[in-house]
Amino acid sequence: MQVENETNGQLEALIRERIRRQGPIPFAEYMRLCLYHPEYGYYMTPRRRIGKQGDFFTSSSVHFLFGRLIARQLVQLWELLGGGAMTIAEQGAGEGYLALDILDALREEAADCYHSLTYALVEVSPEHRARQQERLAGHAARLVWCEPGELAGMTGCILSNELVDAFPVHLVEKRDGLLREIHVGLDGETLVEVVAEPSIGRLQEHVDWLGCGPVEGNRGEINLEAVDWMRQVARLLGRGMVLTIDYGYPAAELYAPHRRAGTLLCYHRHRSHDNPYVNIGCQDMTSHVDFTALQKAGEEEGLETLWFGEQYRFLMGLGFVEQLIALQARETDPLRAQQLRMTLKNLILPEGGMGETFKVLVQGKGIGRPELLCQRPIEAIRI
Ligand SMILES: C[S@@+](CC[C@H](N)C(=O)[O-])C[C@H]1O[C@@H](n2cnc3c(N)ncnc32)[C@H](O)[C@@H]1O
Repeated sequence: MQVENETNGQLEALIRERIRRQGPIPFAEYMRLCLYHPEYGYYMTPRRRIGKQGDFFTSSSVHFLFGRLIARQLVQLWELLGGGAMTIAEQGAGEGYLALDILDALREEAADCYHSLTYALVEVSPEHRARQQERLAGHAARLVWCEPGELAGMTGCILSNELVDAFPVHLVEKRDGLLREIHVGLDGETLVEVVAEPSIGRLQEHVDWLGCGPVEGNRGEINLEAVDWMRQVARLLGRGMVLTIDYGYPAAELYAPHRRAGTLLCYHRHRSHDNPYVNIGCQDMTSHVDFTALQKAGEEEGLETLWFGEQYRFLMGLGFVEQLIALQARETDPLRAQQLRMTLKNLILPEGGMGETFKVLVQGKGIGRPELLCQRPIEAIRI
């Protein structure tokens, strides 16, 4: 596919130089440089990434209802925890839209919960941190920015939306029965893929641990950072919930034989494509999340899987339909009412929308197996 190229020349030169010095580098290292190089990485430089003027939309940038519905689940958690001091730790909050919608909803609809709350933001991008500070200024008394380690023993919820898909992944292929790893090398001045032995034994160990991986001839991603992250948050959480929202599949579906080339995708000015070697440092690179690996790692560290399902079911359970009807009723202009419906349907529609590919994983620690609001079956919706 022909894609527009807007590369950061300094980052590309630095990557070329590294490959000349070291030889081909694992794709995961290449992806980490592209996204998180401290000076030139996509997430570290000034740029509009999320929303209309950016490269991609996230559910929280589509409409405030997304965050407002999540707030309901958080209020239920606060009640389950006894109604005392609670921390909501959001990792990778981007522009801060979700935090804002949650905090606004809690202040308006659950004032006691709001005043018991610390909203902790964990963010690697200095640029995003600055935007979050600006956007959330009206809730300053509730906010802290911190490193993950500072959350140790916390009571509350560790929350993320589209964090895990942004972790650098190893690209692997199964060839002649063996796991091989994609490296990035140079042919003259051109970046090229080189298929080589795995750079670390942990890739094969991961496939063995998961009991699943790409089948013969297929390519796939292994997100080791996702597993390490889940183990870390599971240990940090004293009591409460880990709520992870992202696009992805259970492992058997992620590595299904028909998915021959894996799920790596790049986003640049609202165009998605599969070429990670253009727009270097100027495009997002993501892969679908392996929710089986997250669940398994969480369970091994003492988390219970409380609920896993599609985003549309999660939002419906929390009152999406009722809220849509109420919002529409307040809209007197029919054109604006239609626009509202069109916007909101993005959050729940399966085809081309965020409703089905996006999944929600709810894990708990020390709260038993409560009937969660998000579990309300669609048949129970009364309109
Ligand atoms: C796709 S954006 C998330 C968007 C946001 N949650 C939303 O709903 O619009 C990914 C975010 O994760 C951040 N990030 C990536 N790796 C991280 C890490 N290890 N710890 C904290 N933040 C991280 C990025 O800087 C960015 O803010």
